[in-house]
Amino acid sequence: MEKTEEKINTSKGTVLVTGGAGYIGSHTCVQLLEQGYHIVVVDNFVNSSPVSLERVTQITGQTFPWYRVDLRNRTQLAEVFEKHKIDWVIHFAALKAVGESVAKPLNYYENNLNATLSLLMVMQAHHCNKIVFSSSATVYGNPETLPLTEDCALRTTNPYGATKLMIEDMLHDICHADKDFTAVILRYFNPVGAHPSGLIGENPQGIPNNLTPYIAQVLTGKLPYLQVFGNDYDTPDGTGVRDYIHVCDLAQGHLQAIAKVQKSGVHTFNLGTGHGYSVLDVLHAFERAAGRKIPYQIKPRRAGDIAACYADPQRAAQELDWHAQYDLDAMARDLWRFYTQNPHGYDA
Ligand code: NAD
Ligand code: UD1
Repeated sequence: MEKTEEKINTSKGTVLVTGGAGYIGSHTCVQLLEQGYHIVVVDNFVNSSPVSLERVTQITGQTFPWYRVDLRNRTQLAEVFEKHKIDWVIHFAALKAVGESVAKPLNYYENNLNATLSLLMVMQAHHCNKIVFSSSATVYGNPETLPLTEDCALRTTNPYGATKLMIEDMLHDICHADKDFTAVILRYFNPVGAHPSGLIGENPQGIPNNLTPYIAQVLTGKLPYLQVFGNDYDTPDGTGVRDYIHVCDLAQGHLQAIAKVQKSGVHTFNLGTGHGYSVLDVLHAFERAAGRKIPYQIKPRRAGDIAACYADPQRAAQELDWHAQYDLDAMARDLWRFYTQNPHGYDA
């Protein structure tokens, strides 16, 4: 285990952030520190770098303990719980690439389910009974109606999504058995953007599958043009529509959950803006952010894609007092700033 120095400050409580070095985790760490929480980070860095944690310190001026621990290693995880009194766990740690999960399903079931089982068992052994879990809009599959409310039918179309649904079920079962247990399930729509400082963002690795990192790599000249997957959907301009949400808004949703959820049991919330943007809307926002045209070609639809997906975020607004603040231009501007400041990612 590696660890950094811990500095004591007055705190609203201590939050264990699993996967805290990752994209959404690092942004949430910044906001937790800025809003007066102690944090403890656990990450095995399978898809991240300790540099992101140094950047969290750079942004906030605060140090915090972090551990290179694989959640599946129950002994090492228990040592973390013995060292720190944990009030809440925010559980980001998972493998998250949909395509890879189809190609290597066992890796996804093995990592995502065993990591979560191990975490929940160690929590139970240490009388820690509050967790916020990163779920995904992927649990709605191909929507029958839009916007998506939390009560819409759940179905998965890939092993990654199956792990999210299975973990949601696990949390329901635990809350049924233990009336003091609190589980907040946050279903994220499409997280994009980066911290406005340009210091943390999604660490670009290989050829991206998702739209916004792909556009950023076209802008940096690493890729020649954007392939727009289909312009014959039943959407305003024919291209796919999604609910893109700024990663800082998403991060704030976790803080609202910790602050507002008082009762035990399962609480499920969509975190999306409620607005759908097309692929071409996103492309034009990045053109405005970078001040130049982005080459693109229309290609056939991508297998497994749906026409449109966007959230009804009313429940999070009412129960968590959470409202997305950033618009699509801010998402493009902040992501582009991160790429221009870190063209080779954290490890360059
Ligand atoms: P990320 O890959 O940047 O972060 C995940 C972190 O978990 C990484 O730092 C990785 O090293 C760590 N990790 C993975 N397995 C681990 C293990 N066994 N032990 C310890 N650490 C481990 O991903 P992200 O985009 O920040 O996503 C965070 C969470 O949100 C994930 O659960 C993901 O499934 C979910 N989510 C992400 C998106 C998205 O588009 N980014 C959308 C919906 C849901
Ligand atoms: C994908 C995941 C979903 C995950 C989400 C956010 C799948 C099936 N789903 O959703 O589980 O929660 O990412 O990370 O992978 N597009 C292009 N050209 C590209 C890339 C994408 O036109 O090079 C289009 C897609 O067709 C889609 C839109 O852009 O209409 C968004 O795609 P993407 O960023 O991959 O996200 P999702 O498919 O919504």
